[in-house]
Formats: sequence, C-alpha cells, structure tokens
Amino acid sequence: MFKLSVIFFLAFGSAIAFWPIDVERNADELCIRGDSKPGYCVPRNQCSIIVNILSQQKPGIPPTRANILYIKNSKCESRPYDHKYVCCEEIEKIDQAIHDLSIEDCGRFETDKIIGGKEIQLMSRPWMALLNFRNTDGKNAFTCGGTLINKRYALTAAHCFTNQELLYVRLGEHNISQQIDCKIEDIGIERIFVHEKYSHETGHNDIALVKLSKDVEFRESIMPICLPTSEILQQRVNTLQGFRVTGWGKTENTSFSDVPMEAVVNRVDHSICQQEYTKTIDSNQICASKSLKNFCNGDSGGPLSYIPYLNGHQRFVQYGVVSFGSENCTDGYSGVYTNVGSYIRWIAYKIATK
Ligand SMILES: *[C@@H]1O[C@H](CO)[C@@H](O)[C@H](O)[C@H]1NC(C)=O
Ligand SMILES: *[C@@H]1O[C@H](CO)[C@@H](O)[C@H](O)[C@H]1NC(C)=O
Ligand SMILES: *[C@@H]1O[C@H](CO)[C@@H](O)[C@H](O)[C@H]1NC(C)=O
Repeated sequence: MFKLSVIFFLAFGSAIAFWPIDVERNADELCIRGDSKPGYCVPRNQCSIIVNILSQQKPGIPPTRANILYIKNSKCESRPYDHKYVCCEEIEKIDQAIHDLSIEDCGRFETDKIIGGKEIQLMSRPWMALLNFRNTDGKNAFTCGGTLINKRYALTAAHCFTNQELLYVRLGEHNISQQIDCKIEDIGIERIFVHEKYSHETGHNDIALVKLSKDVEFRESIMPICLPTSEILQQRVNTLQGFRVTGWGKTENTSFSDVPMEAVVNRVDHSICQQEYTKTIDSNQICASKSLKNFCNGDSGGPLSYIPYLNGHQRFVQYGVVSFGSENCTDGYSGVYTNVGSYIRWIAYKIATK
C-alpha cells in the first residue's frame, strides 16, 4: 500500500492533489441600512446587535428611542416584508477582524534598493503569492498574483476568476524557473469569495479573497503584508506618490520575468486617468502610471503598495490590487488598481464570519 501511494505520488506529482472548488460570487447579500451604513442581509437571530437589543428588552418597559430607530433602520431592502431578515451591521466582529489584521508583524520592510523595474531581493517581499489556475483548455499556469494578508487568507483580483479555475496558491516563491526550491509552499483552497458587486464590464469592485485550506506558518519567506486598516491610512491614499508595483508580470496573456520585479509608479488624478479609459473610474479605484517602460503592471491581482511609518517602523501597506490597464508597456497609459482601503470592512467581514 505504501509503495503504491509512493508510485502514485511520483507518477502524478503534487499538482494532482489540488482540485478546483466553486467560486462564491454571492456569499453575502450586501445591503444599505436605513441610517445609510453598509450591512449584510442575515437572519435576525444571527445579527448580534439586534439579538442584544432584543435580549435587553424587559417586559413592560418600552424600548428606548435609539433602539426603536436602530431596528427600524435594520430592514433588509430586498425582503421588506420578511421580518426574519435584517440588514445587519456587524460592527464588533468587523472591528475585531480589522484589529487582528493590523498585527505587528505585517509588511516587514528591510531593503530599499529597488528603483524602477528591478529584481527584488530574495525573501524581501514574503507576502507575494502566485495563483495557479486551470484554463478552459485544461492547462495549468500561474496567471495571477496575490498577497498573503494573514495566516489563512490571500487577497487578489475578482477578474482572475473569469474563465479559469484556481487550483492552488504558491507562497515563498522567488525564481519560478528554478525547479528545486525548498522554501516554497503550495497550498490548496478552502473557499473563494469574489466581491458580490464585481462587474466584468465596468471592472468595478475587482477584488477577491481566497481562503487557504490550512493556516500557514510564518517564516522568513512567508509573511503577510499590511492593509490600510485605519481611516488615516485610507484617507492618505489621495495624497501619496511613489507607490510600488511588485510581481512577476503575470497576467492571462503575459509573463514578464522569472523573478519578481518592483517598479515605482506615481498616482494619477482621476480626472486625467478618466480621459484614458471609456470605463468609468470611481473612487474605489486608484490610477497610477508607470514611470519606466520596462515593467508595467505587476501581476493581475498583485499588490500596489506604499511604505509609510506605522508605530515608528516603515512597513509595506497594500493600497491597491492590480486590476486593469494597458498591457503595452510603452504606451504610457495609467494602470488601474482596486482601492483596498474601500474594501477593508468587506475583507474583515469575510474573515470574521467565513
Ligand atoms: C532563474 O532560474 C533559471 C533556472 O535556474 C536561471 O536560468 C535564471 O537565470 C534565473 N533567473 C534569475 C533572474 O536569476
Ligand atoms: C488576453 O487576450 C485575449 C485574446 O487576445 C483577450 O480577449 C483578453 O482580453 C486578454 N486579457 C487581458 C487581461 O488583456
Ligand atoms: C504598444 O505600443 C507601441 C507604441 O505605441 C505600438 O507600436 C505597439 O504596436 C503596441 N503593441 C501592442 C501589443 O499593442
């Protein structure tokens, strides 16, 4: 039996162990509450705020005005007559998950020797992930990138899940042409969440989360990136210059390099960027232009980052996800990135509840 499984393993390699799983495109029903806060349509008994309000309610004592108003604002628009559902704000769970994301160890920054499309140092961007997909012809390839954001989740772009199926996520990779690399880890997939409002036509809400099949152990070559979890970090995005795009240059149609490269790109105002595209560019997107011509947009789904000081240390904070843009490196058009700061609560809700 042992021999058989060894032969099986040798014959088919490790890739056989990975099977595609269904993409969840409508994992949660997003709603806007009466007080204009975003929420999720859930059964009333699963909404902790409402459950708390109702459990504090003593017989014979009228509810407070604030509580009456809160419950009134909790109608689920899509099911106005179904009182079993509410538009729920999971403030505490989401805040806790956001807090957990801003752990001390994220976004380790050591070396700043890269300007303009240069190879990055081994293990200096340990959150870089490569996503291996099976396309419609049954071929497997790394056609998107992503980032590790905690021990169980990788962040990537929603458009990566069009016409291809994710098999596994590779972490700790550097030179993809080198066969033997003991530092890499290929991890299977437990769930995939594509943003509920992602539109292939407009390119809006181009963000997705991949839940790995197991927790990864952090080490030198595998560590998470920071996200703009605070409002201060989120608001700063409109004033920053000099973002970094990191990746192997992998998209559905291109492959640029066998080691990850990094380029500095400058933010481009929406008004200018809008003139380059027929698609509407909204505030949940960031435009940035290549300052050099030898490296373009990183990997589809890969990071646009900045290195601000957080608690006295410079750290990599992922501000954007590579969404779309001209793949032609010489034409000078802006690249468009999903503004991660706009989706922190979406990310945190998935991590907290899935
Ligand atoms: C990556 O590895 C391949 C195969 O060993 C090698 O030919 C290539 O030069 C390496 N690339 C870099 C940039 O080191
Ligand atoms: C890749 O190429 C195909 C066929 O040329 C095209 O339809 C598709 O839009 C390209 N993908 C990207 C991301 O440019
Ligand atoms: C890229 O841009 C250059 C210069 O504008 C042009 O000559 C070339 O044909 C373009 N290539 C593609 C693939 O669009």
